[in-house]
Amino acid sequence: MKTIGGFFELEMNPYRGELHSSAAALTSGRACLAWILSVVKPTRVYIPDYCCRAVSETLSESGVESCSYGIDANFRPLLDKSPQAEELFLYVNYFGIHTSVVRDLESRWSGRLILDNTQAFFEIPRAGSWAFNSARKFFGVPDGAYLYGASLPSAELPSKSELRWDHLIKRHLGRQDGAYREFLENEALVTAKLYGMSPLSRCLLGGVDYTAVARRRRENFAIFRDELGAWNELEIGCPADAVPFCYPLLLDHELNRTVLARRGIFIPTFWPELIRGKTETGTEFEQALAHRLLPLPVDHRYDSTDCRIVIQAIHELLK
Ligand SMILES: Cc1ncc(COP(=O)(O)O)c(C=O)c1O
Repeated sequence: MKTIGGFFELEMNPYRGELHSSAAALTSGRACLAWILSVVKPTRVYIPDYCCRAVSETLSESGVESCSYGIDANFRPLLDKSPQAEELFLYVNYFGIHTSVVRDLESRWSGRLILDNTQAFFEIPRAGSWAFNSARKFFGVPDGAYLYGASLPSAELPSKSELRWDHLIKRHLGRQDGAYREFLENEALVTAKLYGMSPLSRCLLGGVDYTAVARRRRENFAIFRDELGAWNELEIGCPADAVPFCYPLLLDHELNRTVLARRGIFIPTFWPELIRGKTETGTEFEQALAHRLLPLPVDHRYDSTDCRIVIQAIHELLK
């Protein structure tokens, strides 16, 4: 029943429509991956060494064997054989800019490919490819991921009612008190279990101006590339049809992230477990990425003034 009168609900942008309207809306990237595994039942999945632990954990929780592969300096898979009929191959579209690698893999292994677009929210995969993204990596939402593939959950799935959003509102108001703890508490509630995306996330994602967000991400990426490209060991650009996740800066030495954090600039590590686990798996290049890569934020919260603050701080540390 629609209530009439009384105090107002949270004011939201009008619903324009979701970017991934033909995909299934689930709670997390891991839930999408677990669904794919439950449908395909592969004997083995190839996954990159340079990857988040969430992927290998979802495979082991699903009882599926994994086999790791390396990547070269152009982020192309190093693999001497193709996946067999009952196997799947997972590729991460690193930083959302490796469209040409993705297109190549799609044309070679379409039905056996899983595109992990957790860093490429704007990517729409070719029909028939398995693919998923993760909305929390791009927008201030409590949960959410979109799943593409040959077989999607048929009915609307229930969502997880315990999810929190206080941390999002506090960030919006510029309040830090307890926000990070509350963010972590919500992160712990977003799991690989098969839940639908929460109604709040759907509503928020339906109000995003995706054209403006994509434009701002590309503009910020270009500023970082122009100002820091000379120091970057990666030869990268952003293809015209891609929307970057971050500007990946690989310096020839490790920069002290704590110094940047003291200036209010928070740069994550992809992925801490590759260092802390001391597994030291992967090639020299992958270890360099794990230790030295600075994924600089390019998202729509920031403009050229913000980018220049980051650039200035890095220049000072490079002196
Ligand atoms: C490469 C990659 N794949 C998958 C995931 C899982 O995404 P989600 O947290 O939405 O389950 C992550 C999470 O950080 C990730 O970095």
